[in-house]
Amino acid sequence: MPMKHIEHNSAEYQAMVSLRMKILREPLGLSFTPEDLEKEKEDFLLCAYDDDKMVACCVLSKLSDHSCQLRQMAVSPSMQKNGLGRSLLDFAEKVAYDSGFRSMVMHARKTAVGFYQKQGYEIHGEEFEEVTIPHFEMQKQLIKL
Ligand SMILES: CC(C)(COP(=O)(O)OP(=O)(O)OC[C@H]1O[C@@H](n2cnc3c(N)ncnc32)[C@H](O)[C@@H]1OP(=O)(O)O)[C@@H](O)C(=O)NCCC(=O)NCCS
Repeated sequence: MPMKHIEHNSAEYQAMVSLRMKILREPLGLSFTPEDLEKEKEDFLLCAYDDDKMVACCVLSKLSDHSCQLRQMAVSPSMQKNGLGRSLLDFAEKVAYDSGFRSMVMHARKTAVGFYQKQGYEIHGEEFEEVTIPHFEMQKQLIKL
């Protein structure tokens, strides 16, 4: 399935925000502020397509010269549990490694911890609450794929 970088504030970015709203925010009764989205102009914005339909996405934010944070990982409900999340995460790790990052960090929803553990991520620290639900910080050292 094709995966690519998209541009901030493009039509594709609007489609990405809609996908993230539907999967990650509306079920929690939450939204994005204009400030949340403005901050993403420095981020890596990654998407997967089925023909011309966007079906999965994630965001990479720089934390330091060596470390970046995976955020907003979402796969369309009808496409989940088919390997697409793993493929997009592999792509994100390659993008991160090729950009010089050697460590990936995330705030994983408790319900998704098992998915990230299968891709080699480990829990660091105690459970905490974010966007009203339980999360764990998870990390992985990146290698060249
Ligand atoms: C979590 C999510 C990104 C996973 O993507 P996906 O395409 O469904 O996952 P994959 O099919 O690539 O799964 C890869 C492996 O992880 C497992 N897996 C997937 N989701 C899982 C979960 N929530 N908990 C435990 N294991 C999971 C799969 O069974 C598969 O295992 P296998 O290798 O033994 O077959 C996706 O389900 C999703 O968007 N969920 C809703 C939003 C969300 O929670 N995002 C993460 C925010 S931190």
